[in-house]
This record gives sequence, C-alpha cells and structure tokens, in this order.
Amino acid sequence: MSAAMTSIALADRLRHIEGSPTLALAATAKALAKAGKPVLDFTAGEPDFPTPPAIKAAAIKAIEHNCTKYTPVAGILELRKAIANTLARRLGRPYADAEVMVTCGAKQALYNALQVLCNPGDEVVVLTPHWVSYEPLVLLAAAKPVFVETTEADGFQPDPAAVKRAITSKTKAIILNSPSNPTGAVIEESRLKELAAVLKGARSDESLFMISDEIYDQIVFPPARSYSIVQVDPTLIDRTILVNGVSKSYSMTGWRIGYAAGPQHVIDAMINLQSHSTSNPTSISQYAALEAITGDQREVQRMAEEFQRRRDALVGGLNGIPGLSCFNPQGAFYAWCNISGLKQPADTIASRWLEEAFIATVPGEGFGSRKHVRFSFATSRETIQEGVTRLTQWLHKP
Ligand SMILES: Cc1ncc(COP(=O)(O)O)c(C=O)c1O
Repeated sequence: MSAAMTSIALADRLRHIEGSPTLALAATAKALAKAGKPVLDFTAGEPDFPTPPAIKAAAIKAIEHNCTKYTPVAGILELRKAIANTLARRLGRPYADAEVMVTCGAKQALYNALQVLCNPGDEVVVLTPHWVSYEPLVLLAAAKPVFVETTEADGFQPDPAAVKRAITSKTKAIILNSPSNPTGAVIEESRLKELAAVLKGARSDESLFMISDEIYDQIVFPPARSYSIVQVDPTLIDRTILVNGVSKSYSMTGWRIGYAAGPQHVIDAMINLQSHSTSNPTSISQYAALEAITGDQREVQRMAEEFQRRRDALVGGLNGIPGLSCFNPQGAFYAWCNISGLKQPADTIASRWLEEAFIATVPGEGFGSRKHVRFSFATSRETIQEGVTRLTQWLHKP
C-alpha cells in the first residue's frame, strides 16, 4: 500500500507529528555498532548507570508479594505521600496527597497536563532551545506552540520581557524546563523571580498556567542550584503544574514512573484522562520508585558528581577544538555545542561525524537550532576522551 493511501485513514491531528529525532539517531548509531563499527555514542537521553540495587530489590520484593494488580489510577497512596513529602521538603510548601499523581514517566504527566488545560487555538509559550517533545505535545493538545528564544550570550536564561511580549489573550500555559534539555542551563533565582512577576502581571487569575518540567532537578553542578518557580513565588502555586519523576535522577528511564503535582482540580482532570488511557503506571515500578524516593539518596549524589566530572572533560575537550564552542552546562547531562564555526548546518555535521568518524550526536534542529549539536555525557570518560581525539583528527583531515 502506498504511503499516500495509508495516510488518508489517519487522524488530522497527527499530520504535524513526527517521530522523535533523538530516538532515530540513537537507533542508527546502535545499528552501526551492531555491524561492528567503532561507534562512540553521544546520543543517550538516559544515565548509563544501572538502576541502584536497593531499587531493583524493592521491585523484586513487590513481585514476590504479588503487587502485580491494578493500583489506583493516580498511583499507590504510599508513593503519592512520599512524593508529596519530597516536594514539601524541597519547596517548603505542603502538598496534599490528592494534589499529586503518578504517571507513566514525566512525559505522560506533560501530556496529561496539556490535554486537560488546552482548548483548540490556545497558545503555549515554549522557550527555545527546547526538548524535542514539547512541540508535538502542544500540537497533540490542539494548541499552538509560541517559541521565545533564549540566547547563548544570556546563558540561555529566559528573557522576561520577551516572554511578556509573547503572551496574548490566547496564552494558556508556559512550559519551563530547568535544568534544561538540551542546553543544561539552570534558570537563576533572580530570573525566575522576574519571570514570576511578568506571569502574574499578565493575568492575575488561574487562566494562565506554568508547567514546570523539573525532571533533571537533582543533576545540578555546584555552585549552581535549581529552583522551582513555586519556591521563588509561592503565590503561583495555584497555577503551576510541577512535573518530575525518577527516570533521570535514579537511572530508571525504563521503569516509566513520573509524577505531576498541582492544583487539585487540574490533577483530578489529569487522573480522569489517565483512567481512560493507560490507567495506573506499572504496579511493580511504583514500588521501585517508592524505594528510590524514600531510600538512601547517596547514589543520586554519586551519579551527579560523576556527571560533573564528565561534563568538565567533554566541555573542556570540545572547547579546545577550533570551530566548536560549548556552553558550560550547570545541570542535566548534555553539552550544547555551537558548530557555526564549521560553516555547515547541524544535521550535515552530525551525519558527517557519524559516517566519517563514527561519532553519534544529535543535531540541534529538533531542539530549535541549526547551529548546535547536542552531545550527551551520559557515557564513560574513556568514550569522551576518545571522542574529543577523533573530532580533533576529523577536523585536521584534508
Ligand atoms: C526535559 C525532559 N522532560 C521530560 C522527559 C521525559 O522523561 P520520562 O522518561 O520520565 O518520561 C525527558 C526525557 O528525555 C526530558 O529530557
């Protein structure tokens, strides 16, 4: 059957939705490696460490205790309570269990939030460079993404004046992501305060929401500190949906546990939606996440420290290569490398690196830039060293 014939049957809302470019490149790199090529993979969107043993043991115990049935749609009460306690400790504001729901990864929390908030034609402000899924998630909610640029010169900090200009009567939400994928920028406290003032000034009621994606909040490199918008301005709590999860901080991407916290009527609507889509997140994973959140946190610290060492090696190495310049990320595990010095668009450069040097990276297009390539440093220091050496050699090739 031809592509044209098969596409006729598909729903209109999928017309502008393409597969994730980050996953596509990682797949090509894996295929090349399987074919015996010496691929160095800098595409990973997940920590390369195993899930810590105590978390795995909690999952095994859950199976042995037959915790293998449906759970409440919003997650087991112990986990909702544990999340509420964590948020209270971190943000200094109590969350009720009912203001928290467990989802199948942070991605489903974002999906649910946008689905329940947006009407067709509503606008959602997205700061660029942005995580690849924000645009399709907004489009799937029949809303329109409105992009507001952040610049390298300004440390990829949101510009409150530019955000103010982007807000119209149709704006329903703004998505914040700190630490950021792909830049690794952490929004400064003072900037968040200015932003909070702009958002409150734009609309005093609950018709403008903040969706704060804090999935990398525990992977931050001192002296940087990650703040949530509800910490800098607690009055925004009634219109902020916090999104987080265990995927990145606890190296649990495959377990698919995320969560959302926010005003109860919004969370209730999200639970309602989830009840008709996926139902509860996997029961076993919920018990594993409970151990992750309530157990010994030293592994989280250890992984974050190792990411910092790798960041130093990668960013230092890339900045020593003529034609490349790299923003120094303060969080997450990505280096956002400016390749304008090479005078070719990012997709060409990323393809050439993969084909000619077996270095797999993610071109910046999907994140909103043709001048950048994203390197993940969720990989070993040996791979980082070898990658820098190969790139230096590649550049010196006639
Ligand atoms: C900024 C950001 N938000 C959300 C997610 C999704 O997280 P999860 O795997 O928990 O769905 C990712 C994963 O790459 C991400 O980078």
